[in-house]
Amino acid sequence: LFAGPVDFVKGVVHMDGLPPADRPEVCFAGRSNVGKSSLINALTGRKGIARASNTPGRTQEINYFALGERAYLVDLPGYGFAKAPVAVVAKWQALLKSYLAGRQTLRRAFCLIDSRHGVKDVDHEIMTLLDRSAVPFQVVMTKTDKLGPNALKPVLAQVEEALQKHPAAYPEIVLTSSEKGHGIATLRTIIAGLD
Ligand code: GTP
Ligand code: MG
Repeated sequence: LFAGPVDFVKGVVHMDGLPPADRPEVCFAGRSNVGKSSLINALTGRKGIARASNTPGRTQEINYFALGERAYLVDLPGYGFAKAPVAVVAKWQALLKSYLAGRQTLRRAFCLIDSRHGVKDVDHEIMTLLDRSAVPFQVVMTKTDKLGPNALKPVLAQVEEALQKHPAAYPEIVLTSSEKGHGIATLRTIIAGLD
């Protein structure tokens, strides 16, 4: 699935703008700056196909990437703090929620959690929305290169406990570093298995 061409399809700002629901898709959700766009770059091996930056709120549209004609990878705007005007943020948050609750072909949502921070209230909020919409989701820990194995353990325990509250959650947690490439092959295999 990842061996073929990868193309940016479009940036969507309204539910009406979503591409036809004609193939399976997975999306990447998480707080602003958690590393969603960087993960898409790592998965596709195309540095810069999804724009990443250190400014929280970089991705402001729902960005569609096509893996040939077989699947879409969907980069979402972040939630939580963002460096953008309040009214603008409110608009893209509403779009994000409509998308997560109402996309027929969404096979799995990957909920990204920063390895240094664990699951926060805003993450629970999104996970609860996914539970209610019966969208299966899986947690992906990001930026594991930023801390040692001993520091990761308590955070993982916190995440595992948090997932108990969410019926739509897969128990398996994927550890990744887009920077170092850790966990990227594992995640590719998971996505290819959904196709
Ligand atoms: P928004 O679009 O603003 O919601 O952010 P995002 O979740 O798409 O995050 P993005 O991929 O833009 O990354 C945010 C910052 O984290 C950038 O400066 C990245 O270089 C950095 N980053 C992302 N992944 C990793 C990682 O695995 N390791 C390290 N060390 N830094 C990372
Ligand atoms: Mg982004």
